[in-house]
This record gives sequence, structure tokens and C-alpha cells, in this order.
Amino acid sequence: LWLALGIRKRKPGEPPVENGLIPYLGCAVQFGANPLEFLRSRQNKYGHIFTCKIAGKYFHFLCDPFSYHAVIRQGRHLDWKKFHFSTSVKAFGHDSMDPRHGYTTENLHQTFMKTLQGEALPSLIETMMENLQSVMLQSDTLSPSKDRWDVIFESSYLTLFGKDLGNDKNAARQEAQKALVLNTLENFKEFDKIFPALVAGLPIHVFKSAHSARENLAKTMLAENLSKRENVSDLISLRMLLNDTLSTFNDLSKARTHVALLWASQANTLPTAFWSLLHMIRSPEAMKAANEEVKNILESSGQRVDPSKPQLTLSREDLDNMPVIDSIIKEAMRLSSASMNIRVAKEDFLLHLDNQESYRIRKDDVIALYPQMLHFDPKIYEDPLTYKYDRYLDDNGQEKTTFYREGRKLRYYYMPFGSGVTKCPGRFFAVHEIKQFLALVLSYFNMELLDSAVKVPPLDQSRAGLGILQPTYDVDFRYKLKTQ
Ligand code: HEM
Repeated sequence: LWLALGIRKRKPGEPPVENGLIPYLGCAVQFGANPLEFLRSRQNKYGHIFTCKIAGKYFHFLCDPFSYHAVIRQGRHLDWKKFHFSTSVKAFGHDSMDPRHGYTTENLHQTFMKTLQGEALPSLIETMMENLQSVMLQSDTLSPSKDRWDVIFESSYLTLFGKDLGNDKNAARQEAQKALVLNTLENFKEFDKIFPALVAGLPIHVFKSAHSARENLAKTMLAENLSKRENVSDLISLRMLLNDTLSTFNDLSKARTHVALLWASQANTLPTAFWSLLHMIRSPEAMKAANEEVKNILESSGQRVDPSKPQLTLSREDLDNMPVIDSIIKEAMRLSSASMNIRVAKEDFLLHLDNQESYRIRKDDVIALYPQMLHFDPKIYEDPLTYKYDRYLDDNGQEKTTFYREGRKLRYYYMPFGSGVTKCPGRFFAVHEIKQFLALVLSYFNMELLDSAVKVPPLDQSRAGLGILQPTYDVDFRYKLKTQ
């Protein structure tokens, strides 16, 4: 009977198991309603590790941060590719990018490292800074009738995918370019809405308008369109080249791999920018400290803020030297991140925890870390639900990197970008672009909340597990160009 119902019985040496009440789905509904609460209650009941059936799969949730290392250190028993590659196929509809399936021999990890980090970073940052200023200070953005700020989407889209007219200043053509970007944004948002459903395995044709939005995005990413664009980033040009030389993808499948990157580069960055700006503006101390930091950096390089000549530059060193704004962003991400780190067991093996206990794990089972448990742990972060802009600053005002739990120093205390081999390769660019954004807002604008007593919106839990959560509702800002 156990077998017929697909219910697992705990074997000796295995973690405690919960099959849930519903066949196949198991605990999916309870988990989905509030993952943090669900996991905390099971942790109280079972301890450091327990197993839950979720949508037909068995997930071992490891809750002890001192044991995270056993999973992150990528032992020979654990696979990360299977899950990641198949999720990408489900969401974006391209052929498999897993070299083991034979459609491509590209080493994606290497492509990302080469084009998003190290020597590739300064030019990305420079282009982003130019794009941010030109978008923020163009008449359209400044218009009083403007009711939405799409500054980050537009600037980072242009930075990665280039401009379709190069630097043509012709007003009508600029307008056409703007319309194209806004159209891409609309399609992106329509598609992004159903992203959690696709990851959960629902087929895209169930969602008519999101399906056509994804197809529209893919069309704009066909090589015939991308190749007309100028200043395309190294990331996209190299991916185009490798799609052409190392894969057997057809044109549409190639285009879909670029849509995947559009999503990866925007989906978490947009809510992060929102939360960072909101929390900063709500805290007078944060505003004061951040303003001072930006002013000092600009002064030290002899730059003057002049909205009629928006050409401020912030080098990589400048951006790395902004501990206050860094902490403002980190704290905003701590409160809004809900990513899940996943590995799959390649074979039956024994997982050794920090407390000397070992547990049997079966082949194909999933091992999951849910770092929100860490980020909201009152034994690590005092008063964890409160935004404290200087939480990641030490006594000297520099980046704080030592955190403790019950007197023991933690190796992992902050994980919004994932961990180990699957750690986000775009994380340096992401943090730099948000720093640039905040620094430019502070330099050029007087910004305030329309309702100064507005409450921080609750997190929209529908994306729990997938990254930075969005707010359940929008918050209105008022902004005015600073007079000299
Ligand atoms: C993967 C977070 C911005 C490119 C990831 C993962 C996380 C993450 C948690 C790993 C997912 C996993 O474990 O499966 C974030 C956050 C961002 C951000 C919080 C913004 C605040 C960016 C940006 C880019 C980018 C700006 C590119 C320009 C990627 C790529 C991957 C990835 C390509 C997949 C890596 C792989 O599968 O090898 N991101 N990300 N991300 N991110 Fe980011």
C-alpha cells in the first residue's frame, strides 16, 4: 500500500520524513503558503534535518547553518546541473543547455565568469553608469506626468543587449528606441508573473498572454535583430558566438537562451533596487550617512554634480569603497531574499552534519538549504524583522564580516546570491549597479515618499524559493531635480 500511494517509509538512518496529506503534492501546499513558518515548525519538531515530499520529490531540508558546508562544498555525491538546466528549459523553452544532452558543448559557467566578473566588470560598470544617467535625466523620466520609474530595467537592458541605434541622437529614433525598451519591459513583466508556475512544472500554453509575451521577447532576441544592435555586452556577444559555433540549437532556441539571461539579469535586480531605495528613504540616518558617503567619493575625485552635464563616473574602486551603501543594500536583501539552494543526490550516500550525526540520503533525492531561515534567525540577527541600515558595518564603519550564533562564528550568514558552484555569477555587477543607482538618486534628486508614514509592504510569497521577493503593493515616491 505504501508503494501504491507513493508514500515513503523512513528507513533506519534516514532523516524524519513527512509525506503530507495529499498524494503526489505532499507538503507542497503548506510549504507554499509560508515556507519560513513551515520549515521553522518542522525544525522545532524534528531538528537539524528532515524530509518533506513536495510535488512527487523528496526534499531534505538542512536547517543547521554550521552544516551548510557539507552541501555547499560540492562533494562527489551531489549534482547541481540536473535541477538548474531542467528548470531553465521548463521556464524558457530552449533546448537543453546541459552538455550531457548533446545539444551544445558550451561551458556556461565559464562563459558567465569570463563576461560578468574580473576584467569584464569595469566596462560593464562604465556603460551602466552612462546609461543610468542618460535614462534618469532624460525629459521623459523627469516629466511630472510620469507615474512609473523604469530606470533600472531600461539602463541594464541597454547595458547588456546594446542599443539598436548606437548613439544616434535623432529625437524620433530615440523615441522609437524607448518604445521598444518599454515594450520589452511589458512583455518581461507579463512573463515574469507566471515564472513560479513554470518552475513548478505547469506548461506555458496554459497561460495565453504570458506565452505570447515570452514569444515576443524571443523574437527581439533573434540573431537577425541582436546583430543590428551596437554596444552589445561581452556576455551576449560571446553567448551568440558560442550558440553559433558549439550548439545545434535552431534560431529560436538560441534566442530563448538570451531571454533566460534577460530574466536572470532583471528579475532579482528590480525588487532589490526597490527595497534598497525604500528602506534608505524611510531611514533618516541611512539617508544622512549615504549622502555623506557619496559626497565624499565625488569630492575625492574632483567631480561636481551638474544635471545639465550628467557625466559622473564611479570607478570599480569607488564602488567597492562605499561600505554604507553596501550595508543599506545588504540589509534590504537580507529582509527580502527567499532563494532556495538545491542539490540532487547522484547516488545513495551518507550526509555528515556538523554535530557528528550522519544521515542516509537516497539517489535522486533533493537536498535544500533555505537561507531565509538564516537571515531571519534572531540568534544571528538581533531583532531580525527590523531594518537596520548599519547592520553590515563594523565599529570602524567598514564592512562587517563576522557574525555569530550562540557564540560560534558563522561561515555562512548572508546568502541572497546562492552558494558554491551555483552562486550568482552576476552578483558583483548587480550590487554595483544598485550602488550606482542609489548614488545617482542621492546626487541628482530630492526624493521623498508621497506618504511619509507609509508602511513597508509585505513580501509577496508567491516567489518564495526563487530569489528576491517582490512587494505585495507599490509605494509612491515624489522626486525633484536638485537645484544647484
Ligand atoms: C543565478 C541571485 C542579479 C546572472 C543566480 C542565483 C541566485 C541569483 C540566487 C542562483 C540560483 C541557484 O542557486 O540556482 C541574484 C540576485 C541578483 C542577481 C539576488 C540581484 C540583486 C544578476 C544579474 C545577472 C545575473 C544582474 C547578470 C547580469 C545570473 C546567472 C545565473 C544567476 C547567469 C545562473 C548561473 C548558473 O546557472 O550557472 N542569481 N542574481 N544575476 N544569476 Fe543572478
